[in-house]
Amino acid sequence: MKLKGGRLQLIPIQEKDLEKVRQWRNDNKDAFFDSSEISPEAQAKWWKKYSSLPPGTDTIFIAKNIFSGEDVGMVSLYDIDIDTRTAYVGRVLIIPKHRGHNYGQEMVDLVRDFAFETIRLHKLIVETDLLNTKAQTIYHVSGFLTIGQRFMQITSYLFRIIVIMEMTNPSHDIKRPVRLVEVEE
Ligand SMILES: CC(C)(COP(=O)(O)OP(=O)(O)OC[C@H]1O[C@@H](n2cnc3c(N)ncnc32)[C@H](O)[C@@H]1OP(=O)(O)O)[C@@H](O)C(=O)NCCC(=O)NCCS
Repeated sequence: MKLKGGRLQLIPIQEKDLEKVRQWRNDNKDAFFDSSEISPEAQAKWWKKYSSLPPGTDTIFIAKNIFSGEDVGMVSLYDIDIDTRTAYVGRVLIIPKHRGHNYGQEMVDLVRDFAFETIRLHKLIVETDLLNTKAQTIYHVSGFLTIGQRFMQITSYLFRIIVIMEMTNPSHDIKRPVRLVEVEE
Protein backbone atom coordinates (compact mmCIF):
# COMPACT_ATOMS: atom_id res chain seq x y z
CA MET A 1 0.00 0.00 0.00
CA LYS A 2 1.30 3.42 -0.95
CA LEU A 3 0.14 6.55 0.85
CA LYS A 4 -0.31 9.53 -1.45
CA GLY A 5 -0.28 13.23 -0.57
CA GLY A 6 -0.09 16.42 -2.60
CA ARG A 7 3.67 16.20 -3.20
CA LEU A 8 4.82 12.96 -1.60
CA GLN A 9 4.07 9.31 -1.78
CA LEU A 10 5.06 6.99 1.05
CA ILE A 11 6.21 3.56 -0.05
CA PRO A 12 6.89 0.71 2.39
CA ILE A 13 10.60 0.04 2.79
CA GLN A 14 12.09 -2.84 0.82
CA GLU A 15 15.35 -4.70 1.14
CA LYS A 16 16.86 -2.65 -1.71
CA ASP A 17 16.43 0.52 0.42
CA LEU A 18 18.52 -0.78 3.32
CA GLU A 19 21.89 0.69 2.36
CA LYS A 20 20.56 4.17 1.61
CA VAL A 21 18.52 4.22 4.83
CA ARG A 22 21.61 3.14 6.77
CA GLN A 23 23.49 6.09 5.26
CA TRP A 24 20.68 8.52 6.06
CA ARG A 25 20.68 7.30 9.65
CA ASN A 26 24.46 7.54 9.98
CA ASP A 27 24.55 11.02 8.42
CA ASN A 28 21.90 12.24 10.90
CA LYS A 29 22.77 10.18 13.99
CA ASP A 30 22.38 13.02 16.44
CA ALA A 31 18.68 13.33 15.60
CA PHE A 32 17.96 9.76 16.79
CA PHE A 33 17.77 8.42 20.33
CA ASP A 34 20.15 5.64 19.34
CA SER A 35 22.92 7.76 17.88
CA SER A 36 25.48 5.00 17.34
CA GLU A 37 26.99 4.32 13.88
CA ILE A 38 25.11 1.52 12.12
CA SER A 39 27.31 -1.00 10.29
CA PRO A 40 26.08 -2.96 7.22
CA GLU A 41 26.06 -6.09 9.42
CA ALA A 42 23.96 -4.41 12.11
CA GLN A 43 21.59 -3.13 9.45
CA ALA A 44 21.20 -6.65 7.96
CA LYS A 45 20.52 -8.04 11.42
CA TRP A 46 17.95 -5.33 12.07
CA TRP A 47 16.26 -6.08 8.71
CA LYS A 48 15.96 -9.76 9.63
CA LYS A 49 14.27 -8.78 12.89
CA TYR A 50 12.05 -6.18 11.21
CA SER A 51 10.96 -8.67 8.51
CA SER A 52 9.96 -11.25 11.10
CA LEU A 53 7.68 -8.93 13.10
CA PRO A 54 3.98 -9.85 13.00
CA PRO A 55 2.53 -8.42 9.76
CA GLY A 56 1.08 -4.95 10.11
CA THR A 57 2.71 -4.09 13.42
CA ASP A 58 5.61 -1.93 12.21
CA THR A 59 5.91 -0.11 8.92
CA ILE A 60 8.70 2.09 7.67
CA PHE A 61 7.89 4.23 4.66
CA ILE A 62 10.29 5.84 2.20
CA ALA A 63 8.96 9.23 1.09
CA LYS A 64 9.38 10.10 -2.57
CA ASN A 65 8.51 13.25 -4.44
CA ILE A 66 5.64 12.26 -6.73
CA PHE A 67 6.77 14.54 -9.56
CA SER A 68 10.55 13.99 -9.59
CA GLY A 69 10.63 10.45 -8.16
CA GLU A 70 13.43 11.61 -5.81
CA ASP A 71 13.77 10.22 -2.29
CA VAL A 72 12.92 12.87 0.28
CA GLY A 73 13.04 11.02 3.60
CA MET A 74 11.44 8.39 5.78
CA VAL A 75 8.84 7.97 8.50
CA SER A 76 7.39 5.04 10.38
CA LEU A 77 4.36 3.83 12.23
CA TYR A 78 5.51 1.25 14.74
CA ASP A 79 4.47 -0.76 17.80
CA ILE A 80 1.00 -0.92 16.27
CA ASP A 81 -1.13 -2.59 18.93
CA ILE A 82 -4.60 -3.49 17.71
CA ASP A 83 -5.83 -4.42 21.21
CA THR A 84 -5.22 -0.97 22.64
CA ARG A 85 -5.51 0.64 19.19
CA THR A 86 -2.32 2.54 19.84
CA ALA A 87 0.83 3.10 17.77
CA TYR A 88 3.94 5.27 17.68
CA VAL A 89 5.07 7.61 14.93
CA GLY A 90 8.84 7.82 14.59
CA ARG A 91 12.05 7.50 12.57
CA VAL A 92 11.05 10.83 11.03
CA LEU A 93 13.77 12.12 8.74
CA ILE A 94 13.96 14.51 5.80
CA ILE A 95 17.29 14.25 4.04
CA PRO A 96 19.13 17.56 4.45
CA LYS A 97 18.96 18.77 0.82
CA HIS A 98 15.14 18.49 0.92
CA ARG A 99 14.60 20.31 4.22
CA GLY A 100 12.74 23.60 4.45
CA HIS A 101 9.78 22.64 2.25
CA ASN A 102 7.52 21.33 4.99
CA TYR A 103 7.82 17.76 3.67
CA GLY A 104 8.08 16.53 7.27
CA GLN A 105 4.59 17.86 7.92
CA GLU A 106 3.19 16.11 4.86
CA MET A 107 4.79 12.80 5.89
CA VAL A 108 3.50 12.96 9.46
CA ASP A 109 0.00 13.96 8.32
CA LEU A 110 -0.10 11.08 5.82
CA VAL A 111 0.92 8.55 8.48
CA ARG A 112 -1.61 10.04 10.94
CA ASP A 113 -4.43 9.67 8.38
CA PHE A 114 -3.34 6.12 7.56
CA ALA A 115 -3.35 5.22 11.27
CA PHE A 116 -6.70 6.82 12.07
CA GLU A 117 -8.69 6.36 8.88
CA THR A 118 -7.32 3.12 7.42
CA ILE A 119 -6.25 1.10 10.46
CA ARG A 120 -8.77 2.93 12.70
CA LEU A 121 -6.42 3.27 15.64
CA HIS A 122 -7.49 5.28 18.65
CA LYS A 123 -4.25 6.88 19.78
CA LEU A 124 -0.89 7.90 18.33
CA ILE A 125 2.21 8.70 20.37
CA VAL A 126 5.43 10.40 19.35
CA GLU A 127 8.54 11.07 21.40
CA THR A 128 11.17 13.65 20.60
CA ASP A 129 14.12 15.43 22.16
CA LEU A 130 13.12 18.57 24.10
CA LEU A 131 15.59 20.55 21.99
CA ASN A 132 14.01 19.44 18.73
CA THR A 133 11.54 22.31 18.49
CA LYS A 134 11.15 21.94 14.73
CA ALA A 135 9.90 18.37 15.10
CA GLN A 136 7.58 19.42 17.96
CA THR A 137 6.09 22.15 15.75
CA ILE A 138 5.34 19.59 13.05
CA TYR A 139 3.69 17.22 15.55
CA HIS A 140 1.65 20.06 17.10
CA VAL A 141 0.40 21.17 13.68
CA SER A 142 -0.52 17.57 12.94
CA GLY A 143 -2.67 17.48 16.11
CA PHE A 144 -0.39 16.04 18.80
CA LEU A 145 -0.47 17.52 22.30
CA THR A 146 2.41 17.42 24.76
CA ILE A 147 1.45 15.17 27.67
CA GLY A 148 4.74 14.82 29.55
CA GLN A 149 8.49 14.48 29.66
CA ARG A 150 10.96 11.80 30.69
CA PHE A 151 14.69 11.44 31.09
CA MET A 152 16.68 9.15 28.82
CA GLN A 153 20.09 8.22 30.20
CA ILE A 154 22.62 8.07 27.33
CA THR A 155 25.84 7.53 29.32
CA SER A 156 26.58 7.88 33.03
CA TYR A 157 26.98 11.65 32.60
CA LEU A 158 24.82 12.35 29.53
CA PHE A 159 21.04 12.35 29.24
CA ARG A 160 18.31 13.66 27.01
CA ILE A 161 14.97 15.11 28.03
CA ILE A 162 12.30 13.47 25.94
CA VAL A 163 8.98 15.16 25.20
CA ILE A 164 6.02 12.78 24.92
CA MET A 165 3.19 13.84 22.63
CA GLU A 166 -0.11 12.13 21.95
CA MET A 167 -3.14 12.51 19.72
CA THR A 168 -6.46 10.72 19.89
CA ASN A 169 -8.50 9.93 16.82
CA PRO A 170 -11.17 12.66 16.62
CA SER A 171 -13.58 10.35 14.79
CA HIS A 172 -12.89 7.23 16.80
CA ASP A 173 -15.84 4.87 16.90
CA ILE A 174 -15.33 1.77 19.06
CA LYS A 175 -17.96 -0.13 17.05
CA ARG A 176 -16.00 0.15 13.81
CA PRO A 177 -13.49 -2.70 13.79
CA VAL A 178 -9.79 -2.02 13.77
CA ARG A 179 -8.09 -3.23 10.60
CA LEU A 180 -4.68 -4.80 10.64
CA VAL A 181 -3.27 -3.70 7.31
CA GLU A 182 -0.40 -5.64 5.86
CA VAL A 183 1.55 -2.99 4.08
CA GLU A 184 3.32 -4.27 1.00
CA GLU A 185 4.57 -2.71 -2.21
C1 LIG B 1 12.47 17.59 11.67
C2 LIG B 1 12.55 17.49 10.14
C3 LIG B 1 11.93 16.17 9.70
C4 LIG B 1 11.76 18.65 9.53
O1 LIG B 1 12.08 18.77 8.19
P1 LIG B 1 11.25 19.74 7.19
O2 LIG B 1 9.94 19.16 6.90
O3 LIG B 1 12.14 20.02 6.04
O4 LIG B 1 11.05 21.02 8.11
P2 LIG B 1 10.88 22.52 7.65
O5 LIG B 1 12.22 23.21 7.67
O6 LIG B 1 10.13 22.58 6.36
O7 LIG B 1 10.04 23.10 8.85
C5 LIG B 1 8.76 22.62 9.15
C6 LIG B 1 8.05 23.60 10.05
O8 LIG B 1 8.70 23.57 11.33
C7 LIG B 1 8.65 24.90 11.87
N1 LIG B 1 10.01 25.27 12.23
C8 LIG B 1 11.09 25.45 11.44
N2 LIG B 1 12.17 25.70 12.18
C9 LIG B 1 11.78 25.68 13.45
C10 LIG B 1 12.44 25.87 14.71
N3 LIG B 1 13.75 26.07 14.78
N4 LIG B 1 11.71 25.78 15.85
C11 LIG B 1 10.38 25.53 15.81
N5 LIG B 1 9.70 25.34 14.65
C12 LIG B 1 10.39 25.42 13.50
C13 LIG B 1 8.02 25.79 10.89
O9 LIG B 1 6.64 25.90 11.22
C14 LIG B 1 8.15 25.04 9.59
O10 LIG B 1 7.13 25.32 8.70
P3 LIG B 1 7.10 26.76 7.92
O11 LIG B 1 8.52 27.25 7.85
O12 LIG B 1 6.56 26.39 6.59
O13 LIG B 1 6.20 27.58 8.76
C15 LIG B 1 14.02 17.60 9.63
O14 LIG B 1 14.59 18.78 10.12
C16 LIG B 1 14.87 16.42 10.00
O15 LIG B 1 14.86 15.40 9.29
N6 LIG B 1 15.62 16.55 11.10
C17 LIG B 1 16.49 15.46 11.56
C18 LIG B 1 15.69 14.28 12.07
C19 LIG B 1 14.72 14.67 13.15
O16 LIG B 1 15.00 15.56 13.94
N7 LIG B 1 13.59 13.97 13.17
C20 LIG B 1 12.59 14.13 14.17
C21 LIG B 1 12.87 13.17 15.27
S1 LIG B 1 11.50 13.10 16.38
